[in-house]
Amino acid sequence: MPKKKVDERSPLEGWIDTSSVRAKPSLTDFDLSGGTGDFNNVRWFVFGEGDELMSHPALRHLGMPERNWLFAARLVHFLDDMTLTEHRIVNVAAQVIAENRLRAFLSEDLALDALKLYTDEGYHAYFTAHASRAIRNAFGMEADDGPSTKIATLEALMADTPAERRDMAWFMVGFVGETMITKAIVDVMRGAAHSGVQNMLLAHLEDEWVHARYFSHLFTLIWPRLDAGSQTYFGLLLPRIIEAFHTWDGRFHERILGHVGLDAAARERVLAKVAGEGPHIARMRSRCGNTLQVLERCGVFGNAALRAAFVQSGLLDRDRAY
Ligand SMILES: [Fe+2]
Ligand SMILES: [Fe+2]
Repeated sequence: MPKKKVDERSPLEGWIDTSSVRAKPSLTDFDLSGGTGDFNNVRWFVFGEGDELMSHPALRHLGMPERNWLFAARLVHFLDDMTLTEHRIVNVAAQVIAENRLRAFLSEDLALDALKLYTDEGYHAYFTAHASRAIRNAFGMEADDGPSTKIATLEALMADTPAERRDMAWFMVGFVGETMITKAIVDVMRGAAHSGVQNMLLAHLEDEWVHARYFSHLFTLIWPRLDAGSQTYFGLLLPRIIEAFHTWDGRFHERILGHVGLDAAARERVLAKVAGEGPHIARMRSRCGNTLQVLERCGVFGNAALRAAFVQSGLLDRDRAY
């Protein structure tokens, strides 16, 4: 059988030997030894200057236990959000591809590879939820069972798409989510000083580099073959998907700031700075750099109407090439 050309190879080709679910069963033993008292007085999180919430003057008076608690609460929130996103969002996109519902664009080999990604996400969800529970226990935190505004926003956006466009719309959600997640993990790794947390995130990151390449590869196959009407429809949907992925969880932030004793006026001051339009757009732009690069490579921004939609969302500058 002739060897496949390099550019036809799927990024998931080496999955059997390299994926964390195959090569790193130890991720299921995530353990934080020690009790709340041990954690409270050891600075095991990194508080960078770039962290708008932690470096806000209204939090300056907090001691190490409160600071550790705040950081741990945000880490747990990030991990819980990731667990839900893996199986409620990314794996819906993986199902669409795995069932070869996009067969007009993708080969059966690529559809089969979506099941590898589906398996990875199930494993990520498991070890991520496991780590979240360990951190909650170490810091004496209650589980937060409230509804996720981000998941609800993404699902509502998909429910609004016409039925005949829904499979492709879910693919676009998978593409956006999987080309942004590596940056999100790297950002959290920068703030976490605990080696167990670092190892768990690094194993996830290594898989997600492969997933990002897989979804980028699929996008480059699909986009040029969409007709003009479909390019317009999905091109306008993409910035809305990026925004939906960044739905701000106000309830959570109110709760954690209240927990460390900030009164309503102080909470409002902090959140006005952290959740205002400027910082919100800056966060989105920093997360979706990889996504925008793929779109640029595929010529998406050559279409004036689509480019305008990205500029309108604050994701592109009006006066820069891209
Ligand atoms: Fe994942
Ligand atoms: Fe992934």
